[in-house]
Amino acid sequence: MDASISIRRLTKQFDATTVLKGIDLEIPAGRFLILLGPSGCGKTTLLRTISGITDPSSGEIWLHNKRIDGVAPEKRNFGLVFQTYALFPHMSVEKNVAFGLEMRKVGKAEIVRRVAAALELVGLAHLATRLPKQLSGGQQQRVALARAIVIEPDVLLFDEPLSNLDAKLRDSLREDLRALQQKLGVTSIYVTHDQSEAMALGDEIVVMKDGAIVERGTPIELYRRPKYRFTAEFLGMTNVIAAQIEGETCRLPWGAVCRLENPAETDVEGVAIRPEDLAIVPVEGEHDGVIDQSMFMGAATHYWVKAAGQTLRAIASGGSNAILPAGQKVKLVAPMALHLLKSLGTTP
Ligand SMILES: Nc1ncnc2c1ncn2[C@@H]1O[C@H](COP(=O)(O)OP(=O)(O)OP(=O)(O)O)[C@@H](O)[C@H]1O
Ligand SMILES: [Mg+2]
Repeated sequence: MDASISIRRLTKQFDATTVLKGIDLEIPAGRFLILLGPSGCGKTTLLRTISGITDPSSGEIWLHNKRIDGVAPEKRNFGLVFQTYALFPHMSVEKNVAFGLEMRKVGKAEIVRRVAAALELVGLAHLATRLPKQLSGGQQQRVALARAIVIEPDVLLFDEPLSNLDAKLRDSLREDLRALQQKLGVTSIYVTHDQSEAMALGDEIVVMKDGAIVERGTPIELYRRPKYRFTAEFLGMTNVIAAQIEGETCRLPWGAVCRLENPAETDVEGVAIRPEDLAIVPVEGEHDGVIDQSMFMGAATHYWVKAAGQTLRAIASGGSNAILPAGQKVKLVAPMALHLLKSLGTTP
């Protein structure tokens, strides 16, 4: 089946507050789409509406050519993985995974086969007879994942499934999740407010704010060429610098002239320079800025540089054996071409 999803003018009100403000979203079959945005922007509400747990106030949701808003959640054949594992505590791992198949009246032999296959896929075949309380958090979340995929869902919906795990486990489960999604090719929607998770996992990211979509693109598009300042800052550190725009070029406050990637952009707040793209060169005498602070992070050193009345971030990567001291005068080297950032205003 072509499990594409189409969301049209979807709204959700809770009492007097509008939490989703007319969402339009097309998700091609097989895509791993991330919903990214700050706390309270409506990500969970949108996901729950797609799953059917929450009814929309207005709008439509289509699965390929079938309208599904109004269809009961258990009839949607969607696999759900949430932040809390929500396993049945008195049931073994295999019983937990089998539950959805039993509800669907799948035959005994078929259940045994599919449960074993799902547990194999998530690397838990050896723990099939354990109870949830005898598992680590990461293992419990793998059970939840097995339970979601065993029904052979048309769509997988994830709501911050890794956020209760410690950093190391999160990284390894993240890699497994990505590999599994690519192998299964299931249309997936994954909610997170963690930008590095979004970039690592997604084929595509949808950035949300205040119940609306700000913009959408591949991780690299949104990181390198975001339309809005909001997106640039949400997807990592960035310097936003008020530059003087002169046609196709701009003049930075310390005098350097750079080409503009998008000179026609309107309503702009400045140019973006990612800290890793801002090189600093120690100099004596004439200089662009002065090192204010540094932080050694192992793989890179982060600098705060006072220049032209603001504090800029710069990241020097690689194996340098010395850190520039506070007070060191530096020249700043910006990339050849810079990107203008648009102000979000009130209506994205
Ligand atoms: N059942 C409800 N009744 C009233 N308001 C609600 C309800 N559920 C959510 N909200 C409100 O809707 C808004 C969006 O909530 P939602 O849970 O979708 O945000 P989120 O983007 O998932 O945030 P987080 O990253 O913190 O999980 C919030 O302001 C929240 O308080
Ligand atoms: Mg949420």
